[in-house]
Amino acid sequence: MALRSATLNVMMKAARQAGVRLKRDYGEVDQLQVSRKGPADFVTAADTRTEKILKNELQRARPDFGFLMEEAGHAVGKDGARRWIIDPIDGTSNFVHGIAHFAMSIALEDQGEIVAGLVFDPINELMFVAEKGQGAYLNERRLRVSSRLRMADSLFATGIPFLGRGEAPDHERFLKEMGAIMAVSAGIRRFGSASLDLAYVAAGRFEGFWETGLQPWDIAAGILLVREAGGLVTEIDGGAKMLQSGSIVAANPAVHGPLREAILRARG
Ligand code: 2AM
Ligand code: CA
Repeated sequence: MALRSATLNVMMKAARQAGVRLKRDYGEVDQLQVSRKGPADFVTAADTRTEKILKNELQRARPDFGFLMEEAGHAVGKDGARRWIIDPIDGTSNFVHGIAHFAMSIALEDQGEIVAGLVFDPINELMFVAEKGQGAYLNERRLRVSSRLRMADSLFATGIPFLGRGEAPDHERFLKEMGAIMAVSAGIRRFGSASLDLAYVAAGRFEGFWETGLQPWDIAAGILLVREAGGLVTEIDGGAKMLQSGSIVAANPAVHGPLREAILRARG
């Protein structure tokens, strides 16, 4: 890729280092499927360990930046403007079940704006990165959102709520949304990692993605990936506070409007 900043290099180095360990941890998960205790405790340990490696690496290179992390929470830095937003394993359920579809997500926020983002799938060695104004890349290749124009040709990703995630009204609302989109699209996929769903939109694999109830670390890096690949990202109601509300619709510019409108119509 053309111009990669020192900061992005720091992020990539941290992700690669954490990835070596996480890949090894994942290899052990399969054997734990049959153990009586199950892999849950092991996964929590892998989550915490990955986050620690990322934090240590990033902190060593940029000692003053703050942190917002899924496991360890908030840490204010001397530099009041900049902080890392980190999810060590996005797609934890996949990880637990021995399904090789998960990623770590690192975003750099500067005065409330995401200026760099990285989503790394260590199993398939997919390193998605973006910097504000510099484009989005997958392993050195410039990314562009898909050019499919019609909903009928479009493949969409989403997240399905489950027991413990969203109350009953949310589940019913989601069924209406899914009913509406399945009727007008080429299909819906539920892969279980919001950060990778967004990275796939940036790469033109999915035309779009929608979900609600997400946390900032699930989507911060992915939002920049999609935008830098030429896509549009808003809340489902059209607002711009995705990190606060956890509501998101990301898509290529042609189908973003139709996708969002179809979801809103389904909600009634
Ligand atoms: P996770 O693997 O880090 O938990 C799947 O729909 C997406 O939703 C994943 O990115 C997953 O991230 C996230 N997710 C799962 N449970 C969640 C919850 N209770 N709150 C917010 N996000 C969640
Ligand atoms: Ca996580």
